[in-house]
Amino acid sequence: MAHKVRISVTVNGVQHSSEVEPRQLLVHYLRENLGLTGTHVGCDTSQCGACVVHVDGQAVKSCTVFAVQVDGSSVTTIEGLAKDGNYHPVQEGFWEKHGLQCGFCTPGMIMAAVDLLNKNPNPSEGEIRHALEGNLCRCTGYHNIVLAIQHAAAKLRGEAVTGAADD
Ligand code: FES
Ligand code: FES
Repeated sequence: MAHKVRISVTVNGVQHSSEVEPRQLLVHYLRENLGLTGTHVGCDTSQCGACVVHVDGQAVKSCTVFAVQVDGSSVTTIEGLAKDGNYHPVQEGFWEKHGLQCGFCTPGMIMAAVDLLNKNPNPSEGEIRHALEGNLCRCTGYHNIVLAIQHAAAKLRGEAVTGAADD
């Protein structure tokens, strides 16, 4: 049996103490050990961004990080974004602006977008597109994803937003 390492990690506000193999990737720890399957695996080459989560407030591709590397850290996944039964404004934006079709890329897109808006509350369209360069979507062509993030940014800034998709 492979040597295991004990890690202590807070995921979505819940403390976990787990034994993991040193080679286990964070994405597999989240999905298989904790049952948090909202974080997706879309590639094995660190390109698609479907696996993006936040580690200590920073967006990371969880297929590029070993679980042992988050020992002592705080991780947020898509399951941890809604608060008190209310969706995060970025989640609302994807709903309002039809920012998804199959939804496979959506958790990673949303986590990347939340990270962007935490750092830059008023991004230009170009800055949004640049921030999403590490996230691939096979369905929507990015147009409505950008609209969704603009919608969320305006809402987070306290501006009035419209509900319907713009196209
Ligand atoms: S699964 Fe992590 S980048 Fe594709
Ligand atoms: S909505 Fe299907 S891959 Fe993005």
